[in-house]
Amino acid sequence: MAFGHKHILGIEPLSREDIFTILDTAEGFKEINSRDIKKVPTLRGRTIINAFFENSTRTRLSFEIAGKRLSADTVNISSSGSSVAKGETLEDTARNIEAMRPDIIVMRHGASGAPHYLAERLDCSVVNAGDGAHEHPSQALLDLFTMREKKGRLEGLEVAIVGDISHSRVARSNLYALNRVGANVRLAGPGTMLPPEVDRLGARVCNRIEEAIEGADVVMMLRIQLERQAKGGPLLPSLREYSRFYGLNPDKLTLAKPDAIVMHPGPMNRGVEISSSVADGSRNVILDQVENGVAVRMALLYLVAGGESEDKD
Ligand code: CP
Repeated sequence: MAFGHKHILGIEPLSREDIFTILDTAEGFKEINSRDIKKVPTLRGRTIINAFFENSTRTRLSFEIAGKRLSADTVNISSSGSSVAKGETLEDTARNIEAMRPDIIVMRHGASGAPHYLAERLDCSVVNAGDGAHEHPSQALLDLFTMREKKGRLEGLEVAIVGDISHSRVARSNLYALNRVGANVRLAGPGTMLPPEVDRLGARVCNRIEEAIEGADVVMMLRIQLERQAKGGPLLPSLREYSRFYGLNPDKLTLAKPDAIVMHPGPMNRGVEISSSVADGSRNVILDQVENGVAVRMALLYLVAGGESEDKD
C-alpha cells in the first residue's frame, strides 16, 4: 500500500497509522544498518538535496547517511556557502534547486512554515528537518522509535518533557506524536518558557520538575534555545538558577520509575539542563536516539519517494 504523503512537513498532519507505518518501516532499515554492508539499492537514481539554512550536526549528517545508504545521490547546501548569503530569497533559491530536478528536498530553516511554503510551490517532495520553533518531525519519530524499542510499547507511557517548551520544535512534534499514539505527556519548565496555549496542548502542565518526573517512564530533557530568545531578552535570572530548579541530576531522577529512560535530542548543555552523571549514566539512551535517527530518516525518504508500506488490513 502506498504511504499517501508526498511531504513530511510535521507530525500534525500524520495519523496514528502513518506514525506506526513509519516506525515499522524503520525497523527494517535498522536491521540493514547493523549489517557489514549497510547499503541497499532502494533509491538508486534519485537525487536528494539537504538544504540546511540553520546549524545542525545530527539531523544533517543523519539525513545524508540515510540517503547514501538508500543509494540516492545526496547533495548538501547551507546558507553560508550559498547565494542566500547574497540576499537571494528562499523561493528563488528553491526554484533554482528544483530546476536541477531533485526528487526530495530535506530542509531546515529558522522560519516556522518555510518547508510548507516550498511544498506549495515545488513539484518535488519536501521533508521538514526543523522549522523555527514549529516542528521537527523526524526527531519526534526517532524519539518514539527509541521509546518503543526500550519500553516495548508507546500506549500508556508516562513521558515527562522538561525545559524550554515554548521555543522547542522537538517538544511540539513530540506532543503531537505522543498524544496520537496514546502516551501521557507531562510538561515542566519555567513559566516564561511555557507557551501561552500550554493548557490546550494535551499535556499535564507541572510547575516543578519533580512533579513531572515522579513515576515517569521517560524523561526527555530539552536545552534552552538561547538563539530563539534573543529578540525578547533573557527569560531566566541565571543559568545556575535554572540548573538548580529545572536541571536533571541523579537525585531528581530517583523520582522516576526505576527503569525510566533519559532522552535528549541534542545538543546538550551539560551542567545546565542535565548533569554529566545523568547524561553518561546507565539510564540514558541519547546515542540510541542518534543511531535510530538514521533508520527513521531512511524510512521517511523511502516512503515519500513512493515506497510501499506494509498493508495492515
Ligand atoms: N536534534 C537535533 O536536531 O540536533 P541538530 O541540531 O544537531 O541537528
